[in-house]
Amino acid sequence: TSTKDIDLKGLVRTIPDYPKPGIMFRDITTLLGHASGFKACVEELVKPFHDQRVESVAGIEARGFILGGAAADRLHCGFVPIRKKGKLPAKAIGQDYELEYGVDVIEVHEDALSIGEPVLLVDDLIATGGTAVAAVKLLRQLKAEVIGAAFVIDLPDLGGRARLAELGVECHTLISFEGD
Ligand code: PRP
Ligand code: MG
Repeated sequence: TSTKDIDLKGLVRTIPDYPKPGIMFRDITTLLGHASGFKACVEELVKPFHDQRVESVAGIEARGFILGGAAADRLHCGFVPIRKKGKLPAKAIGQDYELEYGVDVIEVHEDALSIGEPVLLVDDLIATGGTAVAAVKLLRQLKAEVIGAAFVIDLPDLGGRARLAELGVECHTLISFEGD
């Protein structure tokens, strides 16, 4: 089976009203658990970046670790974890952000990237873009060069792609759920 023949969208499970009423939760565990689906997903995620200079992939806790780790391996890059507050052991910098449902802080080790280092941001999904915008701010605070951002799922109604574009970061996404 070629990568192209795999229905990635069909492998994502939708849970209505999780974690609260009115939210349609896009559950990637069904995609991750499907061997050829997961492989195809990671391949498609990194495809535009093979011919670009990327030294590190930064992945956002928690679901961005799964895809970011796999993407870093594919691109022969290092991996930088962007973690929820209080989880990183060495000196870190933090950034507040508003989530689709809640408020939080993400952090990165201050020595995780060098000045000018080309880094690709990876997460499973972009909704409002709040998390990704905060991540870009962190990476830029370290003076790294954010060469792009890759997500498996885009929820275009929530405007995340546009918010990243305003920061000059282009989004590569594989699946879109619109209008529901
Ligand atoms: C989810 C998702 C993205 C983020 C997208 O993570 O994995 O990281 O929300 O939303 P946004 O574009 O509106 O910021 P979440 O923080 O729910 O939890 P996780 O630890 O399971 O990844
Ligand atoms: Mg997340």
